[in-house]
Amino acid sequence: MTHKSENKKKRGKDMAQLWGGRFTKETDKLVYNFNASITFDRKFYRQDIRGSIAHVTMLAKQGILTEDEKKQIIDGLKGILQDVENGTLEITDEYEDIHSFVEANLIERIGAAGKKLHTGRSRNDQVALDMKLYTRDEILEIQDLLKNLLKVLLKIMEENTDTYMPGFTHLQKAQPITLAHHFGAYFEMFKRDLSRMEDIVKRMNFCPLGSGALAGTTYPLDREYTAQLLDFTGATLNSMDSVSDRDYVIEFLSASSTIMMHLSRFCEEIIIWNSNEYQFVEMDDAYSTGSSIMPQKKNPDIAELVRGKTGRVYGALMSILTTMKGIPLAYNKDMQEDKELTFDAMDTVKGCLALFTGMVSTMKFNKERMASSAMNGFTNATDAADYLVNHGVPFRDAHGIVGRLVLYCIDHNKSLLDMTLEEYKEISEVFEEDIYDAISLETCVEKRMTIGAPSQAAMKQVIAEYKKFLR
Ligand code: ARG
Repeated sequence: MTHKSENKKKRGKDMAQLWGGRFTKETDKLVYNFNASITFDRKFYRQDIRGSIAHVTMLAKQGILTEDEKKQIIDGLKGILQDVENGTLEITDEYEDIHSFVEANLIERIGAAGKKLHTGRSRNDQVALDMKLYTRDEILEIQDLLKNLLKVLLKIMEENTDTYMPGFTHLQKAQPITLAHHFGAYFEMFKRDLSRMEDIVKRMNFCPLGSGALAGTTYPLDREYTAQLLDFTGATLNSMDSVSDRDYVIEFLSASSTIMMHLSRFCEEIIIWNSNEYQFVEMDDAYSTGSSIMPQKKNPDIAELVRGKTGRVYGALMSILTTMKGIPLAYNKDMQEDKELTFDAMDTVKGCLALFTGMVSTMKFNKERMASSAMNGFTNATDAADYLVNHGVPFRDAHGIVGRLVLYCIDHNKSLLDMTLEEYKEISEVFEEDIYDAISLETCVEKRMTIGAPSQAAMKQVIAEYKKFLR
């Protein structure tokens, strides 16, 4: 017989609920379902068991449990963990929440000693711990995914310090830059995202266990020891705050929203670059989809989905902010609403980061197309004005002269580089043969040498910094 059917058979109020004592009636079925959290908090069974093992280890050290009881409980908990992982024990919704599931199964396995697991603990500090441990673990995964993305971006940057393309403002061609420079902007964004995640861990990394329901416990717990066992910096200092603090969830969702916003902006650009009009990039077949009716189509669905999924992460942030705003101290059941949307946001961010990284690393860049786009659209107009300034023309006058050049070019369907010196001289006598060199694509980029600018020299310095950072 599997554990599942055994559980079903034995299921009574005592097994499924931890608090039947003062009740004389069964909970209404709808109420039970409305209240239960097992369908989603099952996600942190590992963290729940890890927390219980630390708690019991501390209880035994303090003489609150015997060494034998500790051993029985820990063996039982490890057995439950193993069976859940290998699929022989199913977490069913027979139980109110993951805490009840673990405790009931423990008692079923080891008997009397199992009933001592919850000594000096409440589900309020237990769930506060579980959610913290889970969030901390997820942050580590997200940091790894961010680092992978940064590595991919850096590789593309290294290969493209002389891949010229137009830089845009208002989605209008502005000045020439390089692909390395453009990707470098996103490197900066995701680097900040990484450090935001680090900051959150620093601030949240204090252990709430031992705070009890709200006012601590009467047992001589060693909270610092429990904190140490669970890799926390220390124990939290106020039991009321400990059981009702979800600031770190809000911070996490805010940082996650920012990651999604960055991904979404990048996706938007890639979708534009991938369009027929631009053709700056081509998506790999593995990351594109076709149309059911139009045979010619190769759609950037992945980029569009990442852009689209940004909304659900923002939604999770708004939801928890709203949930928390009216909650008096300390724990209230509203706080159970911290989980579902946060879990969804975690999965969304991880999935999007992984897919986006794959998509970018397989994308082909059409360098000729980018360069010729940078040549057209007067991206060198500022440099033409600078040329005049270098020959003694005041900038405001230079701006006006180049404005007239541009108008002339538009009328004659030319670029600044196509104009003859005679045409230049008709508009200003200052122009000489060296104008062509001064406004070439290469000069426009390579003369921008200050740190943060697109020239190869500046980019290489920055890339060296980024390499150090990733090491
Ligand atoms: N499922 C609950 C939650 O997620 C666990 C804590 C229950 N505590 C209580 N006093 N009912 O918040």
